Amino acid sequence: MKRYRIAILGASGAVGREMLKVLEERSLPIASLKLLASRRSAGKTLLFQGQPLTIEEADEHSFDDVDIVLGAAENDVARRFVPIAVAKGAIVIDNSSAYRLDEEVPLVIPEVNAADAFAHHGIIANPNCATIIALVALNALHDAYHARRMIVSTYQAVSGAGIGGIGELETQMKEMSEGRALSEPAVFPYPIACNLIPQIGGFDELGYSSEEMKMQNEGRKILHEETLRVNCTCVRVPVLRSHSESITVEFEKEVDLAQARALLAKAEGVRLVDDPANARYPMPLDTSDQDLVFVGRLREDISDPSHHSLTFWCCGDQIRKGAATNAVQIAELLIQREDR
Ligand SMILES: NC(=O)c1ccc[n+]([C@@H]2O[C@H](COP(=O)([O-])OP(=O)(O)OC[C@H]3O[C@@H](n4cnc5c(N)ncnc54)[C@H](OP(=O)(O)O)[C@@H]3O)[C@@H](O)[C@H]2O)c1
Repeated sequence: MKRYRIAILGASGAVGREMLKVLEERSLPIASLKLLASRRSAGKTLLFQGQPLTIEEADEHSFDDVDIVLGAAENDVARRFVPIAVAKGAIVIDNSSAYRLDEEVPLVIPEVNAADAFAHHGIIANPNCATIIALVALNALHDAYHARRMIVSTYQAVSGAGIGGIGELETQMKEMSEGRALSEPAVFPYPIACNLIPQIGGFDELGYSSEEMKMQNEGRKILHEETLRVNCTCVRVPVLRSHSESITVEFEKEVDLAQARALLAKAEGVRLVDDPANARYPMPLDTSDQDLVFVGRLREDISDPSHHSLTFWCCGDQIRKGAATNAVQIAELLIQREDR
């Protein structure tokens, strides 16, 4: 079996560190692993399979001897290094939003549109984390009833803003518990401890944030549904990890609640946690540090008497399934195809 030379670009960040864990857990045939970040992290070490690996500063020579790059850096860093890596012959699976809507770049959730990955020209994009969680939950229902319109509210954990977001919430919680004045926020526009911030990204002329529009734009591309309509409200919440979403979907076909529940119970990547009588439903504490999207609170939309709409609640670990695990799963697809 061929072994692959892998690099993580942004290895010191929230997603990059999780990629190391996911690579440890899954048995990819790794020949070598290179950790790349900025000058700030160069020389620091991270453990992989019990051995310290030294982080290198990324530069144009970093990709000379790499087969697969797992991208875990912001858009500007991706735009600088991804073309270099591709020119040197590597395949890049990128978590930033820099290339997601590029027509030449597949946007892939393996449980939903794995086949798209094989049409790449060197870059495969990982979708937005809230979009991955929503579409893993929706996929089996979409196959059965065909989604036309979604109304979504997200409750997004601070780690979605990177490692700095975690530190900011922890610092503010400590300051509050000690009765001290809150330090000036640096990652979020307002204090996030004991607060909710209904803004992730900048607003457009219609009043929707950039994060909110990803659900429609990326959802259309992943599902190959150019007419899918999504009305999304994204909210940052003082949760460390795992995004939660309230989703109402209007389908082309009439829905059957019992059948929908049965479809979700066997859907790939989903765990149905739906027993309201016993207060069992998905919660971010339960979905953190694992890869399944938990779905519950499934019910008919009582505002639609035509029985074409369902409402549900889902939670998923956005650093894992929403980023690191999804990227590693895509790498596995490519490796399996090459080894056939
Ligand atoms: N966090 C999530 O839940 C999540 C989910 C889905 C997608 N994403 C996307 O994944 C990417 C990474 O997010 P994150 O949350 O992991 O961010 P993060 O914690 O802030 O980490 C950013 C990483 O980028 C590196 N970096 C910064 N400047 C660099 C440069 N000039 N050259 C090389 N590396 C550089 C950082 O290295 P230093 O430590 O040296 O600065 C760090 O390793 C982003 O595009 C984000 O939108 C994040």
